[in-house]
Amino acid sequence: MSVQVTVEEVGVEVVLPLRSAVLRGGGPAGMPGDDDPATVHLAAREPDGRVVGVARLSPAACPWRDARSPWQLRGMATEPAVRGAGTGRVLLEACLATVAGRGGDLLWCDARTTAAGFYERFGLTVVAGPYDKPGIGPHVGMLTAVPLEAQEASPTP
Ligand SMILES: CC(C)(COP(=O)(O)OP(=O)(O)OC[C@H]1O[C@@H](n2cnc3c(N)ncnc32)[C@H](O)[C@@H]1OP(=O)(O)O)[C@@H](O)C(=O)NCCC(=O)NCCS
Repeated sequence: MSVQVTVEEVGVEVVLPLRSAVLRGGGPAGMPGDDDPATVHLAAREPDGRVVGVARLSPAACPWRDARSPWQLRGMATEPAVRGAGTGRVLLEACLATVAGRGGDLLWCDARTTAAGFYERFGLTVVAGPYDKPGIGPHVGMLTAVPLEAQEASPTP
């Protein structure tokens, strides 16, 4: 794998342009909770600083499974030009590490059905759906337990 991205915690303003372009067709991309102090925004940057991947994590009850400290993944996207090169992998591994680093024991998401295969590669399993999200399309509920050892790879805040 030749990808050279590094992942760091960033302010919401850093993730919004790519989130908008990939997930909202260029439209408004803010989500409720973006400014909550517990919400974590991650950006994957190439060596020149360009943001090529984004994701958001926030503590939130899981609709499908009880957990001591569940976290929700939202707004996961990579730049179309870099897809298939490992950016999504680095970013999702950083998500798991970030949740583990904050004591989380479960990661869940509403996954676009087109992305479910990606998440499955990293241990998430489909537990609900498919169901429609108006204006976006079909989704499935996915989750994984977060192993404590994922904490070792946690990105620097
Ligand atoms: C889903 C997404 C984040 C994946 O990012 P990426 O940078 O292409 O991911 P990677 O290159 O790290 O891929 C990691 C592995 O997953 C596989 N993969 C990537 N996207 C996949 C998909 N949609 N379905 C199945 N497998 C996929 C890759 O082939 C790769 O496999 P490998 O390890 O055998 O080489 C990206 O395609 C994307 O932004 N899609 C549009 C937005 C979206 O749907 N976001 C999710 C919303 S829930």
